[in-house]
Amino acid sequence: MQRTHYCGELTIRDIDSDVCLCGWVDSLRDHGGVLFVDLRDREGVTQIVFNLKDHADLAREAQMLKPEYVITVHGKVAKRAAENVNKKLKTGEIEVVARILQTHSRSLTPPFMIDDRTEANEELRLKYRYLDLRRRTMQKNIRFRHHVTIETRKYFSDKGFIEIETPLLIKSTPEGARDYLVPSRVRRGSFYALPQSPQIFKQLLMVAGFDKYFQLAKCLRDEDLRADRQPEHTQIDLEMSFVDENDVMNIVDGLIQHLFKELLNWAVDLPLERIAWRDAVNLYGSDKPDRRIGMPLVDMTDVFGQTSFKVFQSVIEKKGLIKAINVKGKALDISLKDIEEYTKFVNQFGARGLAWMKGESGQLKSSIVKFFNEDEIKSIRESLQVEDGDLIFFVADKSNVVHEALGQLRLELARKLDLFPKDGYDMFWVTEFPLFEFDDEKNQTIPVHHPFTSPKDEDRDLLDTEPLKVRARAYDLVINGVEVGGGSIRIHDQKLQKKMFDLLQISTDEAKLKFGFLLEALEYGAPPHGGLAIGLDRLVMLLLGLDSIRDVIAFPKTQKAACLMSRAPSAVSPAQLKELGIKILQT
Ligand code: AMO
Ligand code: AMP
Repeated sequence: MQRTHYCGELTIRDIDSDVCLCGWVDSLRDHGGVLFVDLRDREGVTQIVFNLKDHADLAREAQMLKPEYVITVHGKVAKRAAENVNKKLKTGEIEVVARILQTHSRSLTPPFMIDDRTEANEELRLKYRYLDLRRRTMQKNIRFRHHVTIETRKYFSDKGFIEIETPLLIKSTPEGARDYLVPSRVRRGSFYALPQSPQIFKQLLMVAGFDKYFQLAKCLRDEDLRADRQPEHTQIDLEMSFVDENDVMNIVDGLIQHLFKELLNWAVDLPLERIAWRDAVNLYGSDKPDRRIGMPLVDMTDVFGQTSFKVFQSVIEKKGLIKAINVKGKALDISLKDIEEYTKFVNQFGARGLAWMKGESGQLKSSIVKFFNEDEIKSIRESLQVEDGDLIFFVADKSNVVHEALGQLRLELARKLDLFPKDGYDMFWVTEFPLFEFDDEKNQTIPVHHPFTSPKDEDRDLLDTEPLKVRARAYDLVINGVEVGGGSIRIHDQKLQKKMFDLLQISTDEAKLKFGFLLEALEYGAPPHGGLAIGLDRLVMLLLGLDSIRDVIAFPKTQKAACLMSRAPSAVSPAQLKELGIKILQT
């Protein structure tokens, strides 16, 4: 190794030292007899000086350099003239006077500037990801992620957890998405599934007696992608034996405190608050509420019990729900045209309309105010604490529509009106999720979490009578409105597990075929166990205050699950298909 220092290291203390630096040409300035080259590596930038007067050949060679050429420079550290000092740079007081220059490779003109101010669109950045990753911010993000994983490993190892890898070529693990399948060459017509999570394997590790397991696990899910979803994401996955919900949440509390302290020097008070799913949905219309923006949902159903406003009346007759939010002090910022847009916005979630009123001159103003009597107006003002300048929105419908529509509307308002605070964290647990939900599209009961989640003991009797009312021993970790992690206490009793499959209309044969090995394992002494997985990409995104997980993944995929750089997925040769016994249908 020739290098003596990284480019971000040299300071005034190194004056007169002979050094060797290696890196990329960041920029060049030719001042006639003197050429300045900013040399960049992962730690920073150092100014190199080539002097035509002293080293004519060398300076001429340097004049051939272009941005992104890869070079090694030997030289002496010198103090910069006072007028050339750059206070913003750590190395801004020195420069290296070059003695030897070695050019390792040239570079084409990059398709965008290697600069944090680059305005290149994301497609181009992803196509040339290796160039995008040279940018300071991306280097910072990826290295930050490294620290998160190192600190995570330290934390769990110190707590007695054992890191164990689980296989990638497996039988399907149900996490609610489609599987990515891998055809077997040896057994034509058979397929492996790539794991949606290590769920079943980590449970088997508990049966195997490892007691406390963790892993940074790649999970692969063929699902519709968004800013916080990738087809392959990484989980901080853990499982523990002989525990209840609190034990798991406490361990994760500790991890969150440790990471925020080590990485951001941010003190997290423990235990993190725990709120019941029912309360989260009632108050914020979401199971991962962003509570930082306020605007709780207020139940107005009773207020309108006798109303003559037809829209509300008909909903009340159908035993529906009416809820409202107060957008405090924003009446003047929201025009009638905006309200039309917000109405269209809530229509997407099934709401048939969006009633509104503005507080103005001590009165409520809106085209519908005339339909309400004095008592109703008074109750609206009181329940929602309406003051002049406030805007209230109402949605009346079935409860799930009201919650979804208003829950989403809060977020949309916050996005449009820039209401999200720039710093600070709201972190809490959502507990007591329902065990099942009804999927209208599939017309069947499906697990909210996954089919291995244990029902709450006190709700077990409801399994036979009202399964949709059964609460699960499940918990999600929410930070700033993002579901960062989720887990549960599992079923360790084979009979109960079988019953779950029955309720989910998974036949005994199907259960045997899909999860037979788990059911069998449960017959050989399974300890009570539970665990959780944190979305590492999402956690790193939040710690860095970013909006997209693509910015914390070295080689992410697009919304269409494509890698623009390598062009995956792509066609394969007929010979490969033949070997696998696969024929592609033309559609
Ligand atoms: P779950 O499916 O809730 O649970 O996933 C756990 C966490 O992983 C993150 N996550 C994702 N991140 C990016 N892209 C995705 N496509 C994606 N899908 C999920 C989320 C989520 O909270 N086996 C269970 C955990 C358990 O029960 O122990 C599981 O995978 O942050
Ligand atoms: P309409 O009588 O349909 O013209 O509606 C009168 C007002 O009530 C309009 O502002 C609608 O957006 C609103 N509205 C209609 N249906 C609903 C609903 N289900 N919930 C809330 N507001 C509604």
